[in-house]
Amino acid sequence: MADNPTARARALIAQMTLAEKAGQLSQAFAVPFLPPVDDRVAAGELGSLLFVTDPARINQLQRLAVEHSRLGIPLLFGFDVIHGLRTIFPVPLGMAASFDPELVEQAQAAAAAEARASGIHWAFAPMVDIARDPRWGRIVEGAGEDPHLGSQMAAAQVRGLQGPHIGTPGRVLAGPKHFLGYGAAPGGRDYEPVSLSDAEIRNVYLPPFAAALAAGAGNVMSAYMDLNQVPAVASKGLLDDLLRSELGFEGFVVSDANGVENQVAQHFAPDSAEAAALALIAGNDMEMALGPNAFAHLPALVEQGRVPADVLDRAVERVLVAKIRLGLFENPYVDEAAAAQVLATPAHRALAQMAAERSLVLLQNDGALPLAPGAAKRVAVIGPLADSIADTLGPWVFVPDKAETITVARGISERLAGLAQVDTAAGVQLLRAFPSGLEAFGGKVTPWSADDAANQFDRAVAAAQAADQVILVLGEAQSQSGERASAADLRLPGDQMHLLDAVLATGKPVVLVLLAGRPLDLTGITGRVPAILMAWYPGTRGGAAVAAALFGDVNPGGKLPVTWPRSVGQVPIHYARARTHTPDRADSLYHDLESTPLFPFGHGLSYTQFDFAPPQLDRPVLERGGAVTLTTRVRNSGSRSGDVVVQLYTHQRAGRAMRPDRELKGFQRVTLAAGESRDISFRIDGDMLSYWHAGERCTVLDPGLFDLWVGPDATADLHIGLQVN
Ligand code: GLC
Repeated sequence: MADNPTARARALIAQMTLAEKAGQLSQAFAVPFLPPVDDRVAAGELGSLLFVTDPARINQLQRLAVEHSRLGIPLLFGFDVIHGLRTIFPVPLGMAASFDPELVEQAQAAAAAEARASGIHWAFAPMVDIARDPRWGRIVEGAGEDPHLGSQMAAAQVRGLQGPHIGTPGRVLAGPKHFLGYGAAPGGRDYEPVSLSDAEIRNVYLPPFAAALAAGAGNVMSAYMDLNQVPAVASKGLLDDLLRSELGFEGFVVSDANGVENQVAQHFAPDSAEAAALALIAGNDMEMALGPNAFAHLPALVEQGRVPADVLDRAVERVLVAKIRLGLFENPYVDEAAAAQVLATPAHRALAQMAAERSLVLLQNDGALPLAPGAAKRVAVIGPLADSIADTLGPWVFVPDKAETITVARGISERLAGLAQVDTAAGVQLLRAFPSGLEAFGGKVTPWSADDAANQFDRAVAAAQAADQVILVLGEAQSQSGERASAADLRLPGDQMHLLDAVLATGKPVVLVLLAGRPLDLTGITGRVPAILMAWYPGTRGGAAVAAALFGDVNPGGKLPVTWPRSVGQVPIHYARARTHTPDRADSLYHDLESTPLFPFGHGLSYTQFDFAPPQLDRPVLERGGAVTLTTRVRNSGSRSGDVVVQLYTHQRAGRAMRPDRELKGFQRVTLAAGESRDISFRIDGDMLSYWHAGERCTVLDPGLFDLWVGPDATADLHIGLQVN
């Protein structure tokens, strides 16, 4: 029985009452601003808790379950460990910009170690929602617009979080989310109803989930919104048919916060009891609830015959199997003394810095970067994000190591110690125009008085005036990114443009560092500053990473995981689109703006230069079931070592469906010394070139001519043709 979790679970289920079964499927927030959960735990009414990160409190609650409830079934503790727990890594969109899945796996393994040492068993991560609209605040949380990059990052994060199998010591259960299509919110408006075609579901939004499940993810979180008029939480088509029957998922599904009850507000379920029945029958096994939980109706629903008893048992079995595989029955408690040894270790901080360095994207550089350390004897670091710990860490951060967090200003000061005087000034303050209601988590900001604001602005301009070099740090506050932080306007929020204008008016040399969770509208900026470095929200050691890049200790090698629009008017925008009937028009399809993005997907400059040789194929024809190898030679033709991300894009000329003009199908990040050349190869087979066909409702490979390109971004133009038979 010990090594048969299912048998163990079924033996336990045979002893459980209907109320105890419903309890195992109920998860509650254990937070100070909601009713206490202790009595409910002791009564066996809860099987899981979230938002507890203190080991002592976790043990206290676990003791109530194990030693006071009738059957002593241990609690499952879950938490949003999205990009670190105590040591904070760059936000996931920034990690995706590294185009380095191994690094991402290492980062999530470190995050898992800190979580498990704290007593957390389960991360509500990775968030794998494809996002093609930067107005959506949660674009920050995923890996961007591309299914291939998103799949690679999803699998890497699951491997890092869970380890080789569920129950690996020092790892946690991975819970890819939000199933499915959340990132397709019209207008980027969070939670909005989503309509997607089968082809979009299968070819764009599903692949990262499929990759996460193939990597062994033990949990999935269903999405808040409805997909094609059925709330995801109650969609049998999504949860039972697609997720379980087709993808073979055997773990358990948890709703998003109040997702079960929300069906009533969405006017899908008439009442809470019906909402509970619909969700459970559809395949949503556990209810994450902020208040009274709908699953408390389950015993009555089973007695009334509205919910089949075996459906209830099926869900309980999935949850118990997860607890058994995690070893919670044998080791329900966390070693409180040991926890502190694991949290925020020097090794984790060093990894966080490396992750931040590899996430940086050099958007523009006319040669102003790198700066020579000490060349300027007085440096002004100016902007509302220059010295803000919260905005260096980004959203989805709850118990960070604040003392160890290095802001951009601190990073520059430490890098220039003894070489230059560094002055820091915020200049302006960033405030949401409308509250999110999530401030309880991210911390409130006290608005400056009008006098304070004027003084701060003047102080910043004076600092610029007195400096030999200005480093502007602009973007969006972490409260303006993430959940319930959609943006109707992508321009720099607040008075930042006014500050930029005033700083530029001093005539001092300026370089710009952006901290943000999405591409921003840089109209009026790109033509006026010589260099722009995108740092996302770079995490605990972010400022040290930014300073290392600004002063040339590190050569930025990150690439954009999202297309960067010129303005919000171009949005939604992404590179992988089918062709119009006039694909080669040089002019714009807007009368008032170029059609091309400001920066393409995959874009990122370096302090050195790379040359690509035209690609070669080991054979010109791909036979069914076979494979060909494409090779290109890349050379570092510059004067210093650097990283390049070699990208492979494909396109089919004809077939049973119009396919995107180009799609990323492979990438390799390599470091080349000055003058070094290397052959980079990609294996191409039928699976890579196949797609799901809506009419035939299966994956197909169309014979015919395919275009293959290799290069440094989505505009790669080194081409070779491949005949597929
Ligand atoms: C939030 C998010 C989800 C998160 C959950 C718990 O509303 O949608 O991603 O895991 O609630 O915090």
